[in-house]
Amino acid sequence: MNFKDQIDKSRLPEHVAIIMDGNGRWAKQRGRLRTFGHSSGVKSVRETAEGAAEIGVKYLTLYAFSTENWKRPRSEVNALMTLLVKTLNKEIKTLHDNNIRLLAIGDLKSLPDNTYKELQYAIRETAHHNKMAMVLALSYSSRWEIVNAAKIIAEKVQKGELSPDDINNDLFSSYLTTANIPDPELLIRTSGEYRISNFLLWQIAYAEFYFTPKLWPDFRREDLFEAIVDFQKRERRFGKTSEQIVSK
Ligand code: IPE
Ligand code: IPE
Ligand code: MG
Repeated sequence: MNFKDQIDKSRLPEHVAIIMDGNGRWAKQRGRLRTFGHSSGVKSVRETAEGAAEIGVKYLTLYAFSTENWKRPRSEVNALMTLLVKTLNKEIKTLHDNNIRLLAIGDLKSLPDNTYKELQYAIRETAHHNKMAMVLALSYSSRWEIVNAAKIIAEKVQKGELSPDDINNDLFSSYLTTANIPDPELLIRTSGEYRISNFLLWQIAYAEFYFTPKLWPDFRREDLFEAIVDFQKRERRFGKTSEQIVSK
């Protein structure tokens, strides 16, 4: 039986987040430039988005560019930004065809002008779609986001618009760039690295982690389905005992 048929549709993760890693190594294995790995990863994005929407996942967050990635060689950063504009432009049809709405999180103002504009255009054009939201994390870093939220809250307290007693988990979450997006239940990282790299630190408090050695350009919808099947075999206890979960 293939992985898709093993998925229990009544227990799907509502939100899956992916750290798409390994493009550079994939290209290097083929004696090609790193940017070839990035452009080859677009197919994996399309496959994963279509697969996720098809089975009924509601949010798919893709870590596409971290704040720390700005430190890469200028030529690679430029190539990534150009690829982003080109892909948004070309793949908007995929979003329409699959009823997928585009969202973005991160320090979007730090993106080059044309990238920012193309992104906002695609977000506006797909705003009416409601099968799934694809959330691109761009110039994203979780510590940046948390510090940013703390600053806004502090300013509100200073102005008397908020009292320190109002600050709780829900209020804090509402000042993150993921406000209104449920926390991911499943976090996937490709390329065999076992780290989080500053991604959704607050939001993954109780996420299940799935690591695969596959490099991102090799990732296909069956790999997503395999991760979901694995996720569904786990017992999520949220601090309780196994007996409490079973008897619920
Ligand atoms: C992930 O692949 C894409 C981005 C971080 C933009 P990498 O470019 O990190 O590829 P590796 O990890 O060097 O193989
Ligand atoms: C994480 O990958 C960021 C993205 C996938 C966009 P990196 O390749 O930048 O992470 P590190 O440097 O290996 O931790
Ligand atoms: Mg990497």
